[in-house]
Order: sequence, then C-alpha cells, then structure tokens
Amino acid sequence: MKIPFNKMFYSGQEMEYIQDILEKGQISGDGCYTQRVTSFLENRFQINKVLMTTSATHALEMAAMLIGLKPDDEVIMPSFTFPSTANAVMLQGAKPVFVEITESTLNIEPKDIENKITHKTKAIIPVHYAGIGCEMDKIMDIAEKNNLYVIEDAAQGVNAKYKNKFLGTWGHIGCYSFHATKNYVSGEGGAIAINAPNSGLTEKAEMIRQKGTNRSQFIRGEIDCYSWVDIGSNYVPSDLLMAVLYAQLNQLDIIKFKRKLIYDYYLEHLTPYVKSGIIKRIVTIPEECDSNYHLFYLIFESEKTRDKVIKQLKNKGICAVIHFMPLHSSMMGQKLGYCPDDLPLTENTSKCLMRLPMYTSISEQEMDYVIKSLNIIFKEL
Ligand SMILES: Cc1ncc(COP(=O)(O)O)c(C=O)c1O
Repeated sequence: MKIPFNKMFYSGQEMEYIQDILEKGQISGDGCYTQRVTSFLENRFQINKVLMTTSATHALEMAAMLIGLKPDDEVIMPSFTFPSTANAVMLQGAKPVFVEITESTLNIEPKDIENKITHKTKAIIPVHYAGIGCEMDKIMDIAEKNNLYVIEDAAQGVNAKYKNKFLGTWGHIGCYSFHATKNYVSGEGGAIAINAPNSGLTEKAEMIRQKGTNRSQFIRGEIDCYSWVDIGSNYVPSDLLMAVLYAQLNQLDIIKFKRKLIYDYYLEHLTPYVKSGIIKRIVTIPEECDSNYHLFYLIFESEKTRDKVIKQLKNKGICAVIHFMPLHSSMMGQKLGYCPDDLPLTENTSKCLMRLPMYTSISEQEMDYVIKSLNIIFKEL
C-alpha cells in the first residue's frame, strides 16, 4: 500500500464553482467568490475585517508593513516556524528575535518573550503550531504592558480556538493560509484578519493590498476613480482560487470532524508507546484549546531513531516527514548572529520530530496500515 503524506480533499463543489466563475468570465480578484469567502470567514470566526490574500506569506508581509516596521525594530517570534514568519519582518529591514518553545505544545514560550523584550521591540508573532493555540491571554498581557503589536501567524490555525476564541482573532492582526497542505485549501491562498477596529489598519491594509491605491474604495463606489496613494503591492487572489476555497469552506465542520477522527485513531493506537517510552512525546491538545487537527507528530528520544523510523516507513510505502528546521540555526539565522545552542529545546525537538500522514480523506484501512507498520518497526527498535 502507498500512503502519501498529504492529499487534497475535494468537497465535491469545486468544479461547479470553477465552471460558474469561468462562465461569468470574471477570474480576476475581488469578485463574487472573494466576497463570499470573506463574509464567511468574518461571520464564522467573528472577525472585524478579513482581506483575502495570495498566501499567508503575503498576509504576514502586509502585517509587517501595516504596523510600520522600520530598520532596527525587533520582532519576537519562535524559531520553530516557517521562514515566512521571519522574512516578513526582514523585508521591512527589521530584525527577528527568536525565542524558545514550550515543550508541551511546541508553541512560543511566554516567559522567554518577556526575557527578550528590549526598547527596540515593536511586535510579537506567535505561531499556532499544528493548529493548537498559543497561550494568547498571557501573550496579549505581555504585549499590552509593553505597548507591542501582536500578529498571529495562524497559517496552520484556521477554525481552531484558544479559550473559546478563534485563532487569528486574538492579536491586532491574524494571518491564515489556504495552501494545498492546509486543512482548507485553494492551492495557494491566504487571508489577513484585522482585529483592531477604528485603528486605521483596515484602510491601510486595503491600500497595501491593492498596489498602493484606493481601488477598494473605487470598487465599493465610494469614489469616482482610483489613484496611487502610498507604497503597496498586489496581494489579491484570483476569484478562481476563491471559488475552490468557497467549496472547501462549505464543509468547514465536516473537514474538522473527519480530521478529529484521524487524530483520535492515531492517538489511541500510539499512546501505549508513549507509556512504554518508545515515543518520547506525542501531539497533545491542552484543555483550553479547540484544535483543527492540522497535523499529527511524534517526538523520539534521538534523531537517529527518528530517521530510522522514517526510513522504515518509507520502505513500507508510507510517507512520514520531519518538520520545521529551526530558523535561528539555519544558514540565514547564523548570518544574523544566532548559533544552534541559543535555543536547545527548539533545536532538539526539530531533530527528533516526525509527522505521520494526515489528510482529510485518509481511510481507516490506510490508518490501520500506518499503525500496523509502526507496531512492527517499534518492536524491532
Ligand atoms: C507557520 C507558517 N507560517 C507561514 C506559512 C506560509 O504559508 P503560505 O504557504 O500560505 O504562504 C506556513 C506554511 O506552511 C506556516 O506553516
């Protein structure tokens, strides 16, 4: 049996909506499907203002511009994240300051945030790893005390909550991903959530997203023509992509429910190995978190064991993979002056972590095969 790491889930309405938009002949951005997905996200997640973007990477870049980052500013973030989190900051000339993770969730450690705040700190970017919320109440308190912006990297956190509030809606700004590897997909795609009403951020975000122009006001019929007002770019996704996303969002709860079943199945069958010590840690969802079950990871005692398990799963046709290579010890991180020893937990976790195949349409037979294969591999360890 061949089991890929990821596979697209079709809701069944994608083709219908794509055909509809092609027949309407309106495949550029901000058309009827963009309006539909925008309203859907605003209503379901209780967001003040959503703007659809071409990716989470671009949503993060917009956020960095929105808060007016300048050279010499510092932005605190985990090292255990995707390069986009740090690139957004560096593209504005500012410096990413990497902090340690919490062992239980692999999310940013609030105490280490406090340790790293200086007079140059302008913002914090918590990353909700695996669709499990960071300790947002603590992070918002720290931010308020120190007058900092909070930009949530909720690329993996769509339709998940921390303390009953949706991820991406806690901070001043939230960034979502609809990349093909996420729970709800448009191929490439993202969104920025502006959670600070009357802050001027929404108007600025509309302008940045539309090439530095007031075109959004023009589209709404508020002005007769549009022109260049400030620096911006083009972060507007095609309505073709938003048609695919709308089909996916129609199944928001079903997709989450199916993924919970996969999580529960893996958890039930692998927990005994945590008890026996073969697996050091397993993805765990704290009580205050309502996860979207984005991914399922195991952490082994050593890199050698992790690599051996991945290799043996591969021999059995199963694709299990590693995840984030810490940013502080990457080539770029070292150019910034960091060294691997700066964040030992992050460094060690990354070396020992393995993700199992996790896609909405995975069958019980396929999961069963993954578990049976692991049973055999673990016996021989
Ligand atoms: C934490 C995090 N941030 C940002 C991104 C970038 O998302 P996108 O591919 O939509 O640009 C990813 C993608 O995997 C991610 O995991």
